Amino acid sequence: MSKLVGDPIARVDGALKVTGRAKYTAEVPIAGLTYAVMVTSTIGNGKIVSIDQSQARKEPGVIVILTHGNAPRVHIAEPNGQARVLRVLQDDIVYYDRQPVAVVVADTFERATHAASLLRIEYTAQPVATRIEAGTPYAPKAIQGHAADLKRGDADTAFASAAVKLDRTYRTPIYHHNPMEPHASTATWDGDKLTVYNASQGVDGDRRVLASTFGLPVQSVRVISSYIGGGFGCKGTPWSHVVLAAMAAKVTNRPVKLVLTRPQMFSSVGHRPETIQRVALGADRNGKIAAQIHEVTSHTSTFDEFTEPSGRFSVMLYNVPNSRITQRLVRLNTATPTFTRAPGETSGSFAFESAMDELAYQLGIDPLELRLRNYAETDPDSRLPYSSKSLRACYEQGAQRFGWSRRNPRVRSMRDRNLLVGMGVATAVYPSNRSEAGGLVRIFRDGTALVNSAGVDIGTGAYTVFTQVAAETLGFPVERVRIGLGDTAMPIAPNAGGSQLTASVGTAIKLAADDARTRVAALGNVSPDRLTSPEAYAAILRKAGVASVDGTSDAKKPDDSQKKFATLAFGAHFAEVHVDPDLGQVRVARFVGAFASGRILNAQTARNQYMGGIVWGIGNALTEITRTDLRSGRIMTANLAEYLVPTNADVPAIEVVIVPEEDPHINPIGVKGIGEIGIVGAAPAIANAVYHATGVRVRELPITPDKLLT
Ligand code: MOS
Repeated sequence: MSKLVGDPIARVDGALKVTGRAKYTAEVPIAGLTYAVMVTSTIGNGKIVSIDQSQARKEPGVIVILTHGNAPRVHIAEPNGQARVLRVLQDDIVYYDRQPVAVVVADTFERATHAASLLRIEYTAQPVATRIEAGTPYAPKAIQGHAADLKRGDADTAFASAAVKLDRTYRTPIYHHNPMEPHASTATWDGDKLTVYNASQGVDGDRRVLASTFGLPVQSVRVISSYIGGGFGCKGTPWSHVVLAAMAAKVTNRPVKLVLTRPQMFSSVGHRPETIQRVALGADRNGKIAAQIHEVTSHTSTFDEFTEPSGRFSVMLYNVPNSRITQRLVRLNTATPTFTRAPGETSGSFAFESAMDELAYQLGIDPLELRLRNYAETDPDSRLPYSSKSLRACYEQGAQRFGWSRRNPRVRSMRDRNLLVGMGVATAVYPSNRSEAGGLVRIFRDGTALVNSAGVDIGTGAYTVFTQVAAETLGFPVERVRIGLGDTAMPIAPNAGGSQLTASVGTAIKLAADDARTRVAALGNVSPDRLTSPEAYAAILRKAGVASVDGTSDAKKPDDSQKKFATLAFGAHFAEVHVDPDLGQVRVARFVGAFASGRILNAQTARNQYMGGIVWGIGNALTEITRTDLRSGRIMTANLAEYLVPTNADVPAIEVVIVPEEDPHINPIGVKGIGEIGIVGAAPAIANAVYHATGVRVRELPITPDKLLT
């Protein structure tokens, strides 16, 4: 194909969203709807002794109160690393703060909320495990099917004999996803058939979990997620409230809606776990790194296992012959952590790219130059060639836009009036994968087309880019293409996660559009080349007397054992910070991110996506932290007044440089995926700039003023 779009068209769903016509889960109108409110635990470990319902039951409008005493028994999956183990009122044990312990259903939301507040719950509390350092680390058997520990060469020996050594420990705190739209589920049963409207990143995965939980064939479950207000991983797998909504609907025989409150968004729906990371680098005096050691400890819950694979970042990046990565887990009384935008790479990049910066100062080499001296020309682990790699161009173009050459290498040497000025750099990398996906492209005889996939647009622009892919492949203007997404009744799709939705579903839609074009051409007995406009298709359909023609595709997951190329997206972040030396206050003054992610289907939505990642990187670096009371296990920052996501005032003008990259090998549409790479390396670029400004190396995020006023 000569061209595959790239036009920065406005979102095709934009008008629906700004006029309120795009229905989010909590807005889906259903006749006879009832309202469930979840009640959550106030202890972090222990048992429920009693739940006094006497007051709540007397309230008008209350339909049912579910507790472990009367909730239907369901099948709970064993820990499997993919979907999370759910706590859905099956016993009296409390494993974590804010665990669901009851559900109140009433005829209005207000009545359900009020009745829920009247439940009197008594617990016996046990001591809580809240500190990683106090726990006993263990090695997970695998991380989502991959080896947990990774080795090449002999890193410890090479480190011991290196001329220049750096050995540091870094920490990242718990971060919560905090999408604008809280989790929400509306469930309705028709006999043994369950339909759930769910704020979800992946309806097919939800359907499998719901079917297995309720012992139903998958065909009996339909999950719909038409629009969601942000996901970032927390909506990647169904949590307890989804099952509880379905359970309540079953018990009441009424449709039930359950929407989480903002405080409930801080516990039972995942988080990025805390990490403690040792990074050791051994280099020669020219900065050639011979050994890297990255030892990661993160926490998981007491009843399920999720590993934040921070070590994965280091494996992918530099040409270091000897490498040892270990991942350890400590069980704490927390909810189970989960995928959080670039799980692993985000936290790992802070440790590793901070260490690279420290090594650069130790060697007296420019931090950007140190990265270039260790640039990998082939994949350091697999030794495979890259399908494409434009990291050098990202460094060059990013540095140029940013004005890296104006940086005085000495710390505390640059000023703007009374403020200390610092400039920092860090690298971004994220693997490009693809999963099985189907697609449907239907051509109608009025010269319009319909595109369908179960893939969810989580706000990134999937509706728009898939419309563009179909339109271009068919030769239609985008206005002639309608699209429906996010419904298990549509062709199978992976989660909108792991930066792979566009590569997976975009490929399926491209192939389905090719198929539709071929079928229409065959119907009209013409060459497909003749089909260059909707009218050409319509004429054939009308002549043949058919209402529509379907093109389909079933794009299989590429067989990894056949991989001939390493497939990764790369980028480079450049941050300028201004630090008030008296107050310790850090402001990000400028930020430039340069990224190469294969073909960009829509420059506008892509830019938004990269910028969003950088904004969260600012939060990671400077403002965000979930604080737990170490004695009780209670999360103390379960609101947006104390968990500080960056606001507009915290975010400078962010400049995104899209580095052109043609990748002929990666997939039929040449895209690598851009969902996650924007956040990877953003926080360390800021941390490195703070060091350059102040001479204070903060190895524990977030960089709050107290850490700079030393
Ligand atoms: Mo992402 S953490 O794969 O939603």
